[in-house]
Amino acid sequence: MVVAFRKAPEERVTEINPKRPDIYGDAHPKELLNCINEDHDILKVLANQHILSASQFDRQTLLQLFRLAAKFEANPHRFVSRPLEGKILISAFYEPSTRTRLSFESAWHRLGGDIMSITDRSTLGIAKGESLADVGEMFNNYGDCVVLRDTNEGSVDDMVGSLTIPIINAGNGMDEHPTQAMSDVYTIMKWRPSLTDPGSAAPIRVGIIGVPGRMRTVRSLLTTMSRFPYAFEEVVVVHDGAHDPVFSDGQREALEEAGLNVRVSQALEAELPGFDVTYINAIAWVKDDFEVMGRTFRLDDTSPLKPDSIILHPLARGDELSPGLDDTPHNWYFAQARGAVFVRMALLTCMVQRTNLVMDVL
Ligand code: CP
Repeated sequence: MVVAFRKAPEERVTEINPKRPDIYGDAHPKELLNCINEDHDILKVLANQHILSASQFDRQTLLQLFRLAAKFEANPHRFVSRPLEGKILISAFYEPSTRTRLSFESAWHRLGGDIMSITDRSTLGIAKGESLADVGEMFNNYGDCVVLRDTNEGSVDDMVGSLTIPIINAGNGMDEHPTQAMSDVYTIMKWRPSLTDPGSAAPIRVGIIGVPGRMRTVRSLLTTMSRFPYAFEEVVVVHDGAHDPVFSDGQREALEEAGLNVRVSQALEAELPGFDVTYINAIAWVKDDFEVMGRTFRLDDTSPLKPDSIILHPLARGDELSPGLDDTPHNWYFAQARGAVFVRMALLTCMVQRTNLVMDVL
């Protein structure tokens, strides 16, 4: 059978469009790099640490990771020394992922390491009843670092006790996605590098359309933002009232105690003109499937966005974020996804003790 092209050959796009934004080039990472002084001692603490939660990171560690990420992003051809040569990553993703798995694997490849990738838990002994603790024991023999995404909140904890190599939580059910949050705040800092400095930051207003108690991306993002309370004049959580309570037990109190000024609203259109950054997400992983939240909310090119404001979205997107915004200056969500590669390069380099190969000052 001959399958016809849906478009006539002359209508098909065959050329790369060089005018498409290159996700904002290297000027932003260069400016961010210049705003943060290097401190190797802070990054050395990450060697052989498990990364389970955004709550593990303090402000100075995040800033040093952002600096190293910006260095990688601003100098893509510089690190030909292959700092992760001889190291093996075990990439275990038991839930669908486009960005997290591929960006971790891209990060590891770019640094010269090797990868074993598992995308289906039924191909492991887990399908025969093997415990995650035993699988972790085996991982110790095969690799130098594990990245795990699992639908089950408890999986990462089940494995951690038997691991002698570091593990990164790459999303565990509704609980946490710490490296996504790092990438989100890295994007905000690249967009406004002055926010790195409590002395000169002009605080911004951030709208978060989502449900912090049920969305791992939003939970980890708010925790990471709370390390920079001076940078955020106000954080407005916008929800449609369908999920009550919006916060999990003690979550809002912890954020406020850390210094974040949090408000809750259901009036998206009225709030949008006041946001410098609008973050939107509509998906939460619940057991083995995803749930769409905030169905009434949608951003498109008619939304009353503040003229110089940006939009972030962890992606994958659905109807809540119109492709009509992709070619506008509000689109920083593609830069956010791109930047995640460099943030993960920075973190991985630290975790497997190879920072001495990428530091300028030692
Ligand atoms: N942001 C994010 O976690 O995307 P993936 O589900 O594609 O990894």
